[in-house]
Amino acid sequence: MKENPILSAKGEIRILANPDELNRRAAEEFVCLSGEAVQAKGFFTVALSGGGTPKSLYSLLASEGDSFRSRVSWDKIHFFWGDERHVSPDRPDSNYRMVQEAMLSKVPVPPEHIHRIKGENPNASETAQEYEQELRKFFWLGAGQLPQFDLVLLGLGPDGHTASIFPGTDVILEQRRHVVASWVEKFNAHRVTLTPPVFNNAACVIVLVTGGEKAETLRAVLHEEYRPERLPAQLIRPTRGRLLWLVDREAARLLPP
Ligand code: 6PG
Repeated sequence: MKENPILSAKGEIRILANPDELNRRAAEEFVCLSGEAVQAKGFFTVALSGGGTPKSLYSLLASEGDSFRSRVSWDKIHFFWGDERHVSPDRPDSNYRMVQEAMLSKVPVPPEHIHRIKGENPNASETAQEYEQELRKFFWLGAGQLPQFDLVLLGLGPDGHTASIFPGTDVILEQRRHVVASWVEKFNAHRVTLTPPVFNNAACVIVLVTGGEKAETLRAVLHEEYRPERLPAQLIRPTRGRLLWLVDREAARLLPP
């Protein structure tokens, strides 16, 4: 595998030739990070991203024909979601459904290790509060403590959003709550999302970005002045953890050499 790391205060940026290479690199990270965590403490926690980009990564991890699947201790992993659409789990746009179809239905994960956001609850704020309670219980959190995921996977939207932290929304400023329901004007719908302090408390955050239509946004997020109200992905700066951008050549084409 060709390595071309670019290190900066904004994390480590690796440019891969195409989406296939990017998925293989992300799968390798998943295998290594989960293996290390399982060895150190007996389990691994991951917050998954939705949208289209990670779907092929999830399929690759679960695929019979590849070496990744057999290198993962599936029964030692707890799966969470970084964000969810305000829909029931059987809807085609449910992030839970996407992950279930691409990966979780194909691997031996105990059902109690699948911690989905209950998008079917008509009250989105209640959904967020319940998920926060679930995080508090799972991570044994005391007052003022944040959950620490071993891995957070994120994507980048063409408008600079990440997870469901959209430009101009209140969640950008959220410091106290771990999960919120956020009204997204352009979809005329709520999204439920983990908040910046939770993402930034992770041991490792990997952002997957592919395709030329994200190139200008990626350049702006990494190289323009810090204005997260306009480009929420700029909020992602783990306080103690590692930040890795996995970017394909198309998406990286406007990055300075
Ligand atoms: C979602 C996401 C979202 C996504 C970006 C990129 O629920 O849609 O979690 O933040 O990662 O919108 O989406 P694509 O991978 O589909 O471009």
